[in-house]
Formats: sequence, C-alpha cells, structure tokens
Amino acid sequence: MSSRLVGVAVRKVVCLGDPVLRAPARRLSPKELASPEVQRLLEEMAVTMQEYEGVGIAANQVGEGLSLFLMGLPEKNSRHPAGIPLTAVCNPEVRFVDDEMETDWEGCLSVPGWRGQVERHKKLELSGLDHKGKPFTRVFEGFPARVIQHEWDHLNGKVYLDRMKDLLTLCYTGR
Ligand code: NI
Repeated sequence: MSSRLVGVAVRKVVCLGDPVLRAPARRLSPKELASPEVQRLLEEMAVTMQEYEGVGIAANQVGEGLSLFLMGLPEKNSRHPAGIPLTAVCNPEVRFVDDEMETDWEGCLSVPGWRGQVERHKKLELSGLDHKGKPFTRVFEGFPARVIQHEWDHLNGKVYLDRMKDLLTLCYTGR
C-alpha cells in the first residue's frame, strides 16, 4: 500500500443503525481490487482509521459494502506494544485453529464511546488477498487475531455487541 497518503480524503464512519453495517459484504474480483477506485478506497480507509484512531476498519464502516478490511497499530502502544503492520485484506476467510478462547475489551468506531468484554478465539488462520491481489494464508494469535475476528464480523453484518455474553461489562467511556 502506498505510504504517500497526502491529499487522501478522510471518510465519515457510519454508526450502528445504518443498514450498511448489517448487510453482508460483497466479495471482489482481483480485477475490481486492482481498480483505481478500490485502491483509492483502501487509502481512504487507511487515513480514516488513523484519523479516528482505530486499530481496524471494514469497508462497510465507510459505507461501502465490499469485502475489505484494514488493520494497523503503531509499535509501543499501550494496547499491543508489538504493533500491527498496516495490512489490507480482501475477501477474508477465517478458520479457527483450536478452541482456546480469550476474553478482552473491545470498542468499535461505529459504536463510539463504548467498550465491552468479548470472548474471541485466541488463534486463527486468515486467508484472503492482499492489497495487490496476491493470495495469502497466515496464522494470527492474540490481539491481532481479535482485531481480525472483529473486522470479519463487520463484513458479515455483525458488531461486537452481538458477541457479548455479558452486557453488564458494557461501559461508556465518552470517547
Ligand atoms: Ni468495529
């Protein structure tokens, strides 16, 4: 992905209640992924994620019902010091490697101001196309695996609130 994102528009993140967040995303052909429009969308999603200080963003969160998400987090942050390299994934497929689960806090740019505890698989195998259309399969564990499950849910019309087992953990943070 281009690191020269000067002049790329920050998109508005849609909030829960918008039907686009509840509709399953459409898969893209490699040709569509390579189109200037979709490459531009990926750049816009990247600057939008940075602007909103998110760790991940799905295309439907900026109103586009396409099977695309991004994740990324700078190193030495408090949530996951190792960071996550900026990664674009098209047509993601997730396969759970085992039954080991982990509960931790999640928030969502489309549910601003709230945090809740969500149980997720600790480890998964992610397959998809990278931003250049190259197929890949890779195992992720811990925080990046959590982000992937959250974004994959978005592309299936789900949000983390649907996954919460105990709504009593829901907290308003005002941010
Ligand atoms: Ni989200």
